[in-house]
Amino acid sequence: MLTTDTVLFEQLEFKENAQYEAIISDLIDKKYSIIDGFFDMVEVDFLRETLRKKYEEDNFKKAAIGNRTNEVVEKSIRGDFILWINEADGGEAERIYFSKINSLVEYLNRTCFMGILHKEFHYTVYPEGTYYKRHLDTFQNDGRRKLSMVCYLNNENWKPENGGELTIYTNEYGEEKQIDIYPFPGRVVIFESQELEHEVKPVKVPRFSITGWLKTR
Ligand code: OGA
Ligand code: MN
Repeated sequence: MLTTDTVLFEQLEFKENAQYEAIISDLIDKKYSIIDGFFDMVEVDFLRETLRKKYEEDNFKKAAIGNRTNEVVEKSIRGDFILWINEADGGEAERIYFSKINSLVEYLNRTCFMGILHKEFHYTVYPEGTYYKRHLDTFQNDGRRKLSMVCYLNNENWKPENGGELTIYTNEYGEEKQIDIYPFPGRVVIFESQELEHEVKPVKVPRFSITGWLKTR
């Protein structure tokens, strides 16, 4: 029997699949994809509040460069503070977050044989005046990083003048192009970790996000 619930569920699934298909064709065409409204404002507010609480409890550490066994804190390269998220022992916010991520990963693996087996994510705060110089995410010494994913958790009146654009460098017909992406709340940016250099421009207002990587074997 077709109940209202089944209809609603099918509509939601249809919408999600259309969104995932758009991500896949973007990645094939240009190696990055920008998805507005991946998280709705209720989810963004809840995730940001959870992040802020943890930040106030002083759980964050200065982000380093290099991998986890070979880290150096280099303020002239990046100035953000991070807290790794453990999916298994997260709370309600992390559960909401990962249910969306897992649904996307499941779709990518099922329809594109992406072979994503691992993922790692951290909460991120860029205090006023900080930035992250141009880099490749494999700089982190981890060749398994396949897709980088940044979810912006700023509040709803975030303005372009606040700075903190994610600038992605692409190559079109041999010419370098810069794509400036504003960290608007609910927006998610996905790009090929091994392919696209990028940077975070200096921020003028604290900037909040969840950053992570989808990894192959
Ligand atoms: C990173 C990164 C981009 C952003 O953490 O490696 O490039 O927009 N972040 O926060
Ligand atoms: Mn990066």
